[in-house]
Amino acid sequence: MKKLIKTRAYINIALIKYWGKEDEYFNLSCQPSISYTLNELYTDSDASFNDKDVLIIDGKIASDYEQTKIKKWLDKVRKLYNLEGFVKFDNKNNVPFKAGLASSASSYAAMSLALNELFNLGLSKMEISKIARIGSGSASRSIFGGFSKWIYGNTHDASYAESIDILWPEFKMFAIITKKEEKKVSSRDAMMKSIELLEYNQYKEKSFNDYELMLKLLKEKDINKVGMLAEENAINMHKLINLSNIDYFDQDTRKIMEMVLNLRSKNIPVYYTIDAGPNVKIITLEKYSEIILKTFSEYEIISFTKGNDAHVRN
Ligand code: PMV
Repeated sequence: MKKLIKTRAYINIALIKYWGKEDEYFNLSCQPSISYTLNELYTDSDASFNDKDVLIIDGKIASDYEQTKIKKWLDKVRKLYNLEGFVKFDNKNNVPFKAGLASSASSYAAMSLALNELFNLGLSKMEISKIARIGSGSASRSIFGGFSKWIYGNTHDASYAESIDILWPEFKMFAIITKKEEKKVSSRDAMMKSIELLEYNQYKEKSFNDYELMLKLLKEKDINKVGMLAEENAINMHKLINLSNIDYFDQDTRKIMEMVLNLRSKNIPVYYTIDAGPNVKIITLEKYSEIILKTFSEYEIISFTKGNDAHVRN
């Protein structure tokens, strides 16, 4: 019988962002990052050997652009591990509605885990996170559930993600959906512009400090300190992005940011983080969930819970 591997991996949202590639081939980040993996949005990948590399997304053959991207990624992985054989991935993204939230992290994490099983590589999670990272930087962190960190390293071997061993069940995130369309400028293109800026070095240095501080603050489990640092880190990233005349925010993004500040003025510990798109992610504690749902009721909201490690499905 044909070998069929079934895996699942979840999306993650960065609290300390990865923004800038030191190496394009291996997708090495210029700085370390920290994220939280979420249970509600995930990719199921079914992988099997095939006579050529093929990618199916939600039942449809992927675009030429996507196919080429996957093929290039597979070529790099085959070269690294001396593998022979083409692969067909049949991926399904569990996104309740087209939320405009990147599924590349969950997709590459699910496919990397599948490759490990399909080729019987017997790799550790750390090694699998390196394979995922070649496909999409943030995917390295989706190998792990809950909080995870992508360690800075300037070689393929030294740049990988790990789990952060923190149990914080009260920690809560939401996504407030403002737009469901594809983003206008890819994060890859925007990052390339950012690293050419004079201001980039200073930004990068600050990222390293934010990363060290966040690791410390997560241990203290102080939502105000954790939320404030995550918010500042995201604002700094967007200020940098704006310097290249790219703006990922829309009117609603700005309105939601204001609404968050308004809640804070009432002493409710609510913070935001924003990635390469207009949707806003909320950081708070479980007990403020009702207030969040009520305040942002004019928007579509996803209420997140802690995601698991990427895993094989039965
Ligand atoms: O992994 P990519 O190439 O989709 O880039 C992700 C970049 C951010 O989402 C903005 C930050 C991050 O660390 O996830």
